[in-house]
Amino acid sequence: MLEKVLKGRPCFCGSGRSYRDCHEAVEKRIRDAGRRGAIVPGRKLLRTRAQLEGIRASAGINMRVLDAVAAEIQAGMPLSRIDEIVYETTCAAGAVPAPLHYEGYPYSVCVSVNDQVCHGFPRRETCLKTGDIVNVDCSTEYEGFFSDASRMFEIGTVDAEAHRLVENARDCIAAALSVILPWQPMGVMSAAVQDCAHRAGFSVVTMYGGHGCGVEFHEDPFIDYGWKRTEGMLMVPGMTFTIEPMINQGTSALRENGWEVYTRDGKLSAQWEVQVLVTETGAEVLCR
Ligand code: MF3
Ligand code: CO
Repeated sequence: MLEKVLKGRPCFCGSGRSYRDCHEAVEKRIRDAGRRGAIVPGRKLLRTRAQLEGIRASAGINMRVLDAVAAEIQAGMPLSRIDEIVYETTCAAGAVPAPLHYEGYPYSVCVSVNDQVCHGFPRRETCLKTGDIVNVDCSTEYEGFFSDASRMFEIGTVDAEAHRLVENARDCIAAALSVILPWQPMGVMSAAVQDCAHRAGFSVVTMYGGHGCGVEFHEDPFIDYGWKRTEGMLMVPGMTFTIEPMINQGTSALRENGWEVYTRDGKLSAQWEVQVLVTETGAEVLCR
């Protein structure tokens, strides 16, 4: 009887429909998959209408911040100028750079040059020079909602192999996006990334990966691009997470120095990052 009353109440997702007419079937499917041994998302990973509205607003700002960096980035620029652009553009929009003070991270943005894999510090002492490949990774908190995306930039004239790596890292994102389907495990994205990178002769980093993102900066699940296609959490409509494989020219092995992560062999690394929403039919890119 109580159950009947609960099912007649408005759905938790904010659709305005009753739970019975909205998420009851989805949550039954999640429970059944869980019983069969699949890793499944809890309700808190399914975005409500209000949360999605906040995440979209945050993502809109984050993309404008990346556009502001894109408009200015060039040879000779100290990396600290990228930090300034991100801080100023984000704050002017009434938002906060999510990396700043996150677990003690000391800057507003991660800038990873050449053999840096991720979490590079935008230091005043380091200037961009022609031939560099650079990842600028921006994350925004706006009204408590989070967005996360990164782009590669080629500075001046870049050698052909470096350019091929940057393009391949971008192709890996497209490959992952093309296989997102609700009720498939996240490993289908990992398999698509591995196929794309390995065919081009590159390797895929597995120590770092994607993550749920929206209500928190980094939330469940962690997404490992070393997974097989049957591994990882089932994707369910309403989940929001990042796709951000790191692709290396040589070995996938890493060397870490505090926050900063480098390739162990000193060869190049590239990464693009997008944030997506799982829909009924695939994925919608929220932030890029
Ligand atoms: N933006 C990075 C990501 O893609 C996370 C950076 S954490 C920080 O997940 F503290 F270094 F900013
Ligand atoms: Co991320």
